[in-house]
Amino acid sequence: MPKLAIIGGTGVYQPGILDDVREEVVTTKYGRAKVAVGFYEGLEVAFMARHGAGHSLPPHLVNYRANIAALRELGVERVVATAAVGSLNLDMKPGDFVLVDQFLDFTKGRPATFYDGGEAGVVHCDMTVPYCPALREVLARVADSRGWKVHQGGVYVCAEGPRFETAAEIRMFKQLGGDVVGMTSVPECVLAREAGMCYATVAMVTNYAAGISPAKLTHTEVLEIMATNVQNMRTILMGTLGLLAGPRECGCADILQEIEKLRRQGKE
Ligand code: HPA
Repeated sequence: MPKLAIIGGTGVYQPGILDDVREEVVTTKYGRAKVAVGFYEGLEVAFMARHGAGHSLPPHLVNYRANIAALRELGVERVVATAAVGSLNLDMKPGDFVLVDQFLDFTKGRPATFYDGGEAGVVHCDMTVPYCPALREVLARVADSRGWKVHQGGVYVCAEGPRFETAAEIRMFKQLGGDVVGMTSVPECVLAREAGMCYATVAMVTNYAAGISPAKLTHTEVLEIMATNVQNMRTILMGTLGLLAGPRECGCADILQEIEKLRRQGKE
């Protein structure tokens, strides 16, 4: 059973780092999800391409619940996600990595919880610290050891997409404290927490966001920067996997005990 998973975002469509890869299709109550499972230095690791093969799924149509439920069914405890982001912060330059530590949610109506009431129950999940600090710490150590420019922390603004933002939206996000903007961390990060998993995102800055640079934004530019840096991303992922074999010491799984307690109380 793989306890570790990588969710590859824009530009990261195949593991490339795993041996003996087998394709699995996991059927969940939310739909089906495709997962590649293989080995990295003897460790079993699951890989999922968030946007499907060849980037065929836009961010607002990704079945985040099926993806996270599938990883949970496979036994995954820790997820490292990659994400392409635009930068609102001039210190975070194209090609830089950002280990985001907070998000601002500007999505609109995506199914964002496993707890929709009824059978599933109602759960208000703590989101004070949305990304696992222990996992972020390992990623930071690995990136630092390679001498790469890595920003420790940053506020990820999740926009609905699939269009890029207006210059006014970016000005607003900046005033609210946003550092980078993307379209996928919510609800993926939230669902991972609801499932008791550790979750961290390695964001790669692919461009300055709309209006921050005078140039028009294109998806081609995002893909080009990602392609140039994808090898560095792979190196961070590989270095990190090797350090995640031990037991978890963070509080990311605490939610599961709370949910169990609520269930028991509901039955009494
Ligand atoms: N905005 C939203 N999502 C993105 C961007 C952007 O500028 N760049 C890469 N993903």
